[in-house]
Amino acid sequence: MMTTTTDQTLPTGNRLTVCFAHVAYQLASRFAARQNDIRHFQVWTLDELVNRLPEADVLVVSGLWRNFLLDHAPRLRLIQSIGAGVDQFPHDELRARGIRLASARGVNRNAVAEHAMAMVLALARHLHTGRDNQRAHRWRGMISDLNQREDELGGKTMLIVGMGGIGARLAQLAKAFDMRVLATKRNLASGPAPADALFPPDQLPALLPQADFVVLTCPLTPETELLINAEALAAMKPSAYLINMARGRVVDEPALLAALREGRIAGAGLDIFWDEPLPADSPFWDLEQALITPHTAGETRRYEENVIDILLENVARLQRGETVLHNQIV
Ligand code: GLV
Repeated sequence: MMTTTTDQTLPTGNRLTVCFAHVAYQLASRFAARQNDIRHFQVWTLDELVNRLPEADVLVVSGLWRNFLLDHAPRLRLIQSIGAGVDQFPHDELRARGIRLASARGVNRNAVAEHAMAMVLALARHLHTGRDNQRAHRWRGMISDLNQREDELGGKTMLIVGMGGIGARLAQLAKAFDMRVLATKRNLASGPAPADALFPPDQLPALLPQADFVVLTCPLTPETELLINAEALAAMKPSAYLINMARGRVVDEPALLAALREGRIAGAGLDIFWDEPLPADSPFWDLEQALITPHTAGETRRYEENVIDILLENVARLQRGETVLHNQIV
């Protein structure tokens, strides 16, 4: 972390320029509604971002980020991530250039937790195949096989891998359905965690065989990359479901595909993948037991306001010459 304040302090008033870069979020118009005098503009494509980034002191960005943009950013002092995840940014390179980075952790906590719960409910209640049958105008008969029938959640075990803010919210929701909630957490001492039991991450192999639903809500880090590999999948019950709300690369995708195809786990709810958009020829599309959403778990109509709250807080801190950011990463 930088110790000097002089080269970190941001210009104030209309000498400060913020660039919002996102393909969909209405960040600039929501920012204008806050009635501050900070100069700002929005770009919606990578080309526009390359052209206009040289004007910006602050960049608000997530999926449009590319590392080569650093060569087009002579004024840049702060990147405010629009996403909770910050794995796409070159942390060391930013540090070396004196560019600060803050995540938007917290902005989509409720959305992602509700999305995970929606996946759990959909898979348990067979909504995914119900919709397939609806499209085919097929009224499916009742299922005799107790291993195949719809089920209820009470008494089932949810294992939350990565008990941060999203995991904590999800645990509350799962408890409302009378589920037993186990969770792993890097720092067991930090923050409240409404799970029945908390474990350090190295306990995962012992926890996987107990779970009916394994929900990934951890960040992508060197420790979590490919965490759910063939061995981890083999440790899950054949009746269990994997719900990935984290990052594609937390899961060994070919191993997951094999486990699903061979019925070694019951199914998966997947919001993210190694390659996004998921290629049209990906085998995941055609797996009946996979429920896919297009990296939308964090979507909410409150997204813009939530990000702008964090942005304004961090801009104010840097303008005051403070060095510690809200959700500081670099
Ligand atoms: C979404 O994936 C995020 O990182 O917020």
